[in-house]
Parts: sequence; C-alpha cells; structure tokens
Amino acid sequence: MSTTFQLDTSTSRANPTPQPMRRLTVPKIRDRKADGITAEPLVMLTAYTARQAQLLDPHCDLLLVGDSLGQVIYGLPSTIPVTMEMMANHAAAVVRGSYHSVVVVDMPFGSYEASPEDAFDSAARLLKESGAAAVKLEGGEAMAETVEFLVNRGIPVMGHVGLTPQAVNVLGGYAARGRSDAEAEKIVGDAKALEAAGAFAIVVEGVVEPIAIAVTEAVSCPTIGIGASAKCDGQVLVVDDMLGMFERVPRFVKKYENLAETISEAAARYAGEVRDRSFPGPDQLYQPK
Ligand code: KIV
Repeated sequence: MSTTFQLDTSTSRANPTPQPMRRLTVPKIRDRKADGITAEPLVMLTAYTARQAQLLDPHCDLLLVGDSLGQVIYGLPSTIPVTMEMMANHAAAVVRGSYHSVVVVDMPFGSYEASPEDAFDSAARLLKESGAAAVKLEGGEAMAETVEFLVNRGIPVMGHVGLTPQAVNVLGGYAARGRSDAEAEKIVGDAKALEAAGAFAIVVEGVVEPIAIAVTEAVSCPTIGIGASAKCDGQVLVVDDMLGMFERVPRFVKKYENLAETISEAAARYAGEVRDRSFPGPDQLYQPK
C-alpha cells in the first residue's frame, strides 16, 4: 500500500494528513549508538491506527505495530492468535498516519519460526502490504540464522529478548526473566547472537535491571527497554498502557494519562444529553436558509 499519495483531508476526518518530510531510516536508528554510547535515547511507542500514528509520530523515533494489538485492539487473551492480516492492515494504517518515525511491524506467532524461508515470505509480505521499514521477531540464538537470512535479503530486523510474550506457553506466564545465573547468561547470549546476525536494534523486555544493563553493554546495536532499565539505549511502551486505557497494567508501565476515565465520563455525559434531549443542540443542527 502506497504512502506517497496525496489525500484531500478537507472532506474526511478519517484520512491521514500527508506531510512532506523525510523519514528517519533504519541505519540512522542503528547509528544513534556509537562506541557503545547513545547520547540521545531512542523513543518508541506502539501504534495501531492511523490517527494514533499521526499524534505519536512527531514525538517518536520509531513506531512499533506490536502484536500486542491482539490484546489491546482485539481483546484476545494473548498474542498467539494474532494473524498476518491483522499485522499488515494495522501496519499500513500506521504508515499512512506517520511521516517521521521508522515503522516496525511485529511478525505474528507462527509466521517465521519454522524456517528462514517461511520468515522471508512473511516479512516480505508485511513490508510490501504495509510500507513499514522493518520487522521485529521474538527469540535469540534460535532465531539468529533467520535474522541473518532476512537481513542479507534486504529486510531490517529488530530482535526481542528476555520476556518474549509469544512464548507464554513455554514460559508459563509473564514474570520477569533473568533472576537465575543461567537465565541471565542465556539472555545476554541471545542478544549477542542477534547482534552478530545483523539485528539493527534489540527490544529487551521484562528482565531484572542488571541483565538489561549487561545486554546493553554487550551489544553494539541499540537496546530498547520495556520493564528493563533506563540505561537501555531507548524505551518502548504499549501506547494504550501509558495512556491509561486499562485499569490494570504491569509494574513497569507509567501511566501518563487516564484516558479510560476521560472516555467513560464523556460517554456518560453524551448518554445523559441524548436521554434528556439536550443533544443535539442548536450548534449541531442544520437549518434551512
Ligand atoms: O507487541 C508489542 O507491543 C511489543 C512491545 C511490548 C515491545 O512487542
């Protein structure tokens, strides 16, 4: 889906506003970490819709179309049932709504694990159908061959280590990782394997802080923390979590707003005005000339 067409936004509020501005690129993101130091931390948020993307884009370096959309948008119990169609459609919307950030799209569970060739077909489809610049996939050493295969064929890959939600059935839950020496060693090894395979950045999720720092020091590409450490090279949050759309959020989420309350109060006021016939009022009505 093209993102270069010009749209007439005066006629439909659903259309995104195209902006003549150059996007950040994957190499620019990669190069923000130089000699082990990221002077300006990378800012990433998830986004799932065009309007969300429009609002978040000016403030971010990267927008992640996360498979967290399974829970956040579709009300699914985990990311496992998320499909390629869901990811491609939401990624296309986010690309259309943004003009500055690098858009990264999650590869859904089952679309990349079986073989590097399968992964290439899935990743190519996601990029072709959405216009996103890169894919993200979960897993460390076991996925290194696949990451290398994709990168060598023109597909930038963001890795994801530590708590990997697609492995919830193996991990048995969403508890923080890296508490035992063996687990900690594995997470650092996973990150190193992804870096060697050519990942341009690595999400480090739900790990004890010293391990997040160890990973960040061990790899030359940027790490992006979530439930990890402020010393990572960047941070990511699920946008609906940080906006307060859910009452219960994981410990690592900081709520910057309370949109659930705002929406609920607005809906209650609207319902009241419909019921007492004070909406629509004179300002909202068309009258004959
Ligand atoms: O799916 C997602 O939103 C993610 C982030 C939490 C990193 O993978």
